[in-house]
Amino acid sequence: MIENRTQDKLAAVILAAGHGTRFKSHLPKVMHSLAGRPMIFYSVEMAQSLGVEQPVLVVGHGAQKVREFLGSDVAYVEQSERLGTGHAVLQARPVLDGRSRMVLVLYGDMPLIKPETLRRLIELHRVGDAPATMLTVSADDSMGFGRILRHADDNRVLAIIEEADATPEQLAIRELNVGVYGFEARWLWEHLPQIRLSPKGEYYLTDLIGMAVDEGYRVQALMLDDVTEVQGINTRIHLAQAEATMRHRISERWMTAGVTIVDPETTYIDADVTLGQDTRVLPNTHLTGSTTVGRDCVIGPNTWVKDSSVGDACIIRFSVIEGATIEDSVDIGPFAHLRRGAHLARGVHMGNFGEVKNSYLGPGTKMGHFSYLGDATVGTDVNIGAGTITCNYDGQRKHKTVIEDDAFIGSDTMLVAPVQVGKGSKTGAGSVVTRNVSPHSVVYGVPARPKEKDEGSLKPSEE
Ligand code: UD1
Ligand code: CA
Repeated sequence: MIENRTQDKLAAVILAAGHGTRFKSHLPKVMHSLAGRPMIFYSVEMAQSLGVEQPVLVVGHGAQKVREFLGSDVAYVEQSERLGTGHAVLQARPVLDGRSRMVLVLYGDMPLIKPETLRRLIELHRVGDAPATMLTVSADDSMGFGRILRHADDNRVLAIIEEADATPEQLAIRELNVGVYGFEARWLWEHLPQIRLSPKGEYYLTDLIGMAVDEGYRVQALMLDDVTEVQGINTRIHLAQAEATMRHRISERWMTAGVTIVDPETTYIDADVTLGQDTRVLPNTHLTGSTTVGRDCVIGPNTWVKDSSVGDACIIRFSVIEGATIEDSVDIGPFAHLRRGAHLARGVHMGNFGEVKNSYLGPGTKMGHFSYLGDATVGTDVNIGAGTITCNYDGQRKHKTVIEDDAFIGSDTMLVAPVQVGKGSKTGAGSVVTRNVSPHSVVYGVPARPKEKDEGSLKPSEE
């Protein structure tokens, strides 16, 4: 028989059928967020980075949220009754049998495991001849993990014994089963159904190690000494610990890449965020979601940026930025709020207590103090005086404001949309602009009307 090409492929089964009862949550445990991504994302991405085309995820009944999030990146098999890890992996057999030479078993609630570790495990498996290779860790706190039994004379692996079934002597063993394995696919699919029900009423995947040893194989274990990588997340306390570990890893990655992080303890950078060289991130700053930040910026202190793109050489301090686009050399804050669809072009200055939503501010435009711009298009080098407001909402609908290049909006101007202020025109302080303003003219008053030539000077409050 001609060997199918797919025979060389690596498959992965990710176990995630646990209820996560101790999370006390309506959301499946693996959908809880870690560094801005649902926990399950990490094992899936890990499997993909190892060359697995479509990892198989073992989920409990429904798991609608998980399916919505991962879509067709993974294949789903349902384990309707939680009958143990052996039973869980067996659910993947109809999907995977005959499809790969090796099967990697991972957990959906172990997101901190490093790709290097799994690569080493796969390598150890490939050079050995046993049908199973496993990951172990040496730790003082057993964390409820299974114990590795080794032969007293030659130290070879004999079996894994679950904590619930261990004798006091076995409980003292420090080498623990991580629960991550590489298996020869054919051997795995053949032996899984032979696992016997444990006294606890579960089919233990761990029994396969003893079975391989009984068949005369020498099972290899890759032993780790850092337990943080393999901590399962079973409670929200574990989740916070994992978050801290992940946060440090992410910060270290960016510092290595040339970003200054003044205080990694109080800097929160999500997994997907990118930063440019020589950018400085000051304390208590959150860079979240799909945010990108360019080079030579100073972000923070006390700044929250979510799903936004920030150019080079920007300064953003004490501000909240969500769904915004910020071009180069923009200076924001303190206490500015950019909302969805805010687009600040090169060189914009936005001072304190301003809010911009769904608006474009052209290059060099200045908005120094206490203003709201919503649904507005603002040209180049416009001055937005203190307290300027676009009255964009009439109680039912939102309307647009257009302010053309070089316009000068006097302090406390109300722009009642829809309205347009022409190029180079001015509004007097306190104007309520209800009609379009023609280019190069001056309007003032309530409601604003054009200034006649003989009315004397109309001194804008700020120049
Ligand atoms: C298992 C191992 C134990 C190891 C520990 C490490 C067995 C029998 N024991 O313990 O040796 O030290 O992991 O974490 O394998 N799951 C399912 N379906 C099930 C049971 C579990 O999908 O029926 C999933 C869980 O969602 C979780 C993972 O498998 O992601 C591990 O389950 P858990 O109950 O935490 O591990 P144990 O079986 O106690
Ligand atoms: Ca269990």
